[in-house]
Amino acid sequence: MMQSLHLLTLVFYTSLFHFLAISRSQNQPNYLYNQQKNYEGSSDLIDLKYHMGPVLASPINLYIIWYGRWDPNHQSTITDFISSISSPAPYPSVADWWRAVTLYTDQTSANVTRNVALSGHFHDAYSHGRYLTRLSMQSIIKNAVTSSNKRRALPLNYSNGLYLVLTSHDVQVQEFCRAVCGFHYFTFPSVARVTVPYAWIGHSGAQCPGMCAYPFAWPGGGTPPRGSGIMGPPNGDPGTDGMISVIAHELAEVSSNPLINAWYAGDDPVAPTEIADLCLGVYGSGGGGGYVGVVSKDSWGNGYNLNGVKGRKYLVQWVWNPVRRRCFGPNALD
Ligand SMILES: *[C@@H]1O[C@H](CO)[C@@H](O)[C@H](O)[C@H]1NC(C)=O
Ligand SMILES: *[C@@H]1O[C@H](CO)[C@@H](O)[C@H](O)[C@H]1NC(C)=O
Repeated sequence: MMQSLHLLTLVFYTSLFHFLAISRSQNQPNYLYNQQKNYEGSSDLIDLKYHMGPVLASPINLYIIWYGRWDPNHQSTITDFISSISSPAPYPSVADWWRAVTLYTDQTSANVTRNVALSGHFHDAYSHGRYLTRLSMQSIIKNAVTSSNKRRALPLNYSNGLYLVLTSHDVQVQEFCRAVCGFHYFTFPSVARVTVPYAWIGHSGAQCPGMCAYPFAWPGGGTPPRGSGIMGPPNGDPGTDGMISVIAHELAEVSSNPLINAWYAGDDPVAPTEIADLCLGVYGSGGGGGYVGVVSKDSWGNGYNLNGVKGRKYLVQWVWNPVRRRCFGPNALD
């Protein structure tokens, strides 16, 4: 009886997890991603198409807006990850992982850039409070680029700027933890004066680690059952290590679909399935359906699949590789 109750709980939570969306690119609150449509190895089922818009082909100047109160250790886990995208590290590295993203081109045959430079930071102490809507992100970006303190303000770089709004553990965001862990979009001239691509990702540690920091936390909360596949976070904080994969997910998607008119599957631009959505929950060979796939363990047993700068290790989901026509990462066994 106990046994089957546990089994039932397990089945319940695993299917719950499958139906939660990790990220949305658009204002689409009730869209639920069905992970059972996991496309690993089944390229016949997917219709990823190019819709004639631009990709981020020029070297990217990335600007981080730290919203709320941030632990400096968590910040360096994240900034080292960003630096790892364009820096050498032992194979399989974060830069090796990004190569799949650079295989996407636009109609001028320009590939997504290999160069992502962390070009500036802005610290925002709750300028818009502790509950944010999706639209608040655009005002937060506007605030950061028009700050009266010119030494602190970020440049409004409309040619090759990409803005990342990262909210701390105590900030609630519309649909965060219910339908999304992050999203990407672009600013409207009416709010921010120009159109620039941006992404938001939340720290889920205190709110919903089982959803947004899986597999470092169990979706059911509490102690995970044996064989659940829950693993330790390679940089010591489930919420931050969970953000890394969501940041990677959003950066891959915003680069290949910055204005929601380039690379996505499905015919509905309101609910596009993008290159990282196709590989949600897959971090290694055999992954899918609640199993992360074959990944490595560090000497403390924490899970990772990529190396970064300064000896860092990260666990990052795979993205759809358009040449191999399947989800793929540099840690693949084949
Ligand atoms: C650009 O993308 C094309 C198509 O995927 C690929 O064949 C080529 O190797 C890419 N070039 C670079 C420099 O990544
Ligand atoms: C954008 O950033 C690049 C590189 O730092 C710089 O050369 C360019 O002038 C910037 N453009 C604007 C509009 O700030």
